[in-house]
Amino acid sequence: MTDVAFLETNVQIPSYVKNERLIAWVKEMVALCQPDSVYWCDGSEEEYNRLCEQMVASGTFKKLNPQKRPNSFYAQSDPSDVARVEDRTFICSRRREDAGPTNNWVDPREMKQTLKGLFSGAMRGRTMYIIPFSMGPIGSKISQIGVEISDSPYVVVNMKIMTRMGKKVLEALGDGDFVPCLHSVGAPLAEGQADVPWPCNKTTKYIVHFPEERSIWSYGSGYGGNALLGKKCFALRIASAMGREEGWLAEHMLILGVENPQGEKTYVAAAFPSACGKTNFAMLIPPKAFEGYKVTTIGDDIAWIKPGEDGRLYAINPEAGFFGVAPGTSYESNPNMMTAIKSNTIFTNVALTPDGDVWWEGMDGEPPAECIDWQGQTWTPAIGKEQNRKAAHPNARFTVAAAQCPVIDKDWENPNGVPISAFIFGGRRASLVPLVYQAVNWNYGVYLAATIGSEMTAAAFGNVGQVRRDPMAMLPFCGYHMGDYFNHWLQVGRTLPNPPRIFCVNWFRKDKDGKFMWPGFSENMRVLKWVVDRVHGHAYAIESPLGWMPRYEDLEWTGLENFTQERFKELMAIDREGWKQEVLSHEELFEKLYDRLPKEFILMRELLLSSLWRSPARWELAPERYSDSRLDEHVNA
Ligand code: OXD
Ligand code: MN
Repeated sequence: MTDVAFLETNVQIPSYVKNERLIAWVKEMVALCQPDSVYWCDGSEEEYNRLCEQMVASGTFKKLNPQKRPNSFYAQSDPSDVARVEDRTFICSRRREDAGPTNNWVDPREMKQTLKGLFSGAMRGRTMYIIPFSMGPIGSKISQIGVEISDSPYVVVNMKIMTRMGKKVLEALGDGDFVPCLHSVGAPLAEGQADVPWPCNKTTKYIVHFPEERSIWSYGSGYGGNALLGKKCFALRIASAMGREEGWLAEHMLILGVENPQGEKTYVAAAFPSACGKTNFAMLIPPKAFEGYKVTTIGDDIAWIKPGEDGRLYAINPEAGFFGVAPGTSYESNPNMMTAIKSNTIFTNVALTPDGDVWWEGMDGEPPAECIDWQGQTWTPAIGKEQNRKAAHPNARFTVAAAQCPVIDKDWENPNGVPISAFIFGGRRASLVPLVYQAVNWNYGVYLAATIGSEMTAAAFGNVGQVRRDPMAMLPFCGYHMGDYFNHWLQVGRTLPNPPRIFCVNWFRKDKDGKFMWPGFSENMRVLKWVVDRVHGHAYAIESPLGWMPRYEDLEWTGLENFTQERFKELMAIDREGWKQEVLSHEELFEKLYDRLPKEFILMRELLLSSLWRSPARWELAPERYSDSRLDEHVNA
């Protein structure tokens, strides 16, 4: 083992590293974590290939069949390390009130002590990698720089795909500010101890954010959002706190562009909770009837949004890659992603086929007759059925560069971002919530987005299927008090002369037989077109208690004629009693956030309740005075 005192005083600093704060921090972390060696990542292809080969040799990676998936690798995680750990995620602001009741909080001094204890010697027997990265195009005014220190080569190669990473970032940093992100898998190796393919700490995990100090400490996990610290930890939790101070928004949103046959381009940002189809929506291929329409992708998970000088909101995707959920991804659900992941991709916790390729539930075609499941065991369709065992973990992932997406937008790296004309908010709701409705104004839209509920998915440990309030799909990602976050959204709207329009959608409503009512995927284009047309004042809508809604004839049905008006009515129905209960249940969130809840919300809730109240509608009292278009056709008894 290398002598630590020697390492501490002799950490080799590459000549291009000029940032004194960075040098001091690295030295301090070497002293704390006591790695065997220190390596500065340059971000080159050569480095990526070398680390991948090294992980093949160590058993972390299997190289996939180059005939099937060129330059692609496969990793299986430890079964205890398969998803984000929300109950181990902390926002350690100085005051508990600033983290708010929806975040776990520990006094930062106490937490630092705990973490220092855990990180002390945590990298023994391992290499410490220094990973400089930029969230957003290098040099963009909206971008931010971070440096992750990690003892995981798996993290290095994933960060190479997910961010702009390496030497060029440090050159851009100069002596400027960066967010220090410390990560360890929490599995030091004793002298002579053999490593395992997926080192992690099975029992102790901490994902900790210090928003005032703007730093991140992550211990014990090597998986996804717990370990690739540029993503959820920086680009959402720390960035949301930065955005609040500086007047911008860091959101859990995809960004897409819609070009109509006249060549008019409209950008839309949409928030859905984890594993609710953001990636598929971001890469949607319009159905045949939409000839001349093009949908292009800017990002699939995170948007950083800033007011521009012209009074519009401009957004960038801070990431450079996609860390997508594999199960359910297919040529039917997302052909563009299937094309993107044909090569140069890292797969984690999917199944491995005998011909050296990958498979997961929901991929096109028949399941393989036999494969190796995500835990390394033989899996056949019969075994799967008998033992109720999936071949791929429901939160299995692929990591792929955004540039490989065939429909990546030509402006996806535009340092100025793209102008956002509409926000869409969605959840996964089997009942109650109609396909689409539009908020009557910004404040009401913020209220609707803040009170959205969704059934939980496998992206985080928890009770899958249970409905929880997930404001703006940010419940696990907001780095400060949720009440302040709502006020921040309202405040952003106040500064804009003509804020983007706000819409809510639900692709997941089921009928009495438990079947999804809406075909979803590319058919979502029908809703997207209505949204875009509304923004430009080209689409009709009727008033409903929830907001503006399309009538059947306001959506394009060519190619989906078998979706009847009756069915549409069912899909759009507003069950007044059910909705009253739903709105009353917002109380739970309101009580939790009461001391910082925007007062506007109380009034909006009353307004919503009063519009749900059943009283004879005006057109029922004087039908001759109202045209058909005013008929409240979606509202049932
Ligand atoms: C993700 C998530 O990985 O939201 O994007 O969990
Ligand atoms: Mn996400």
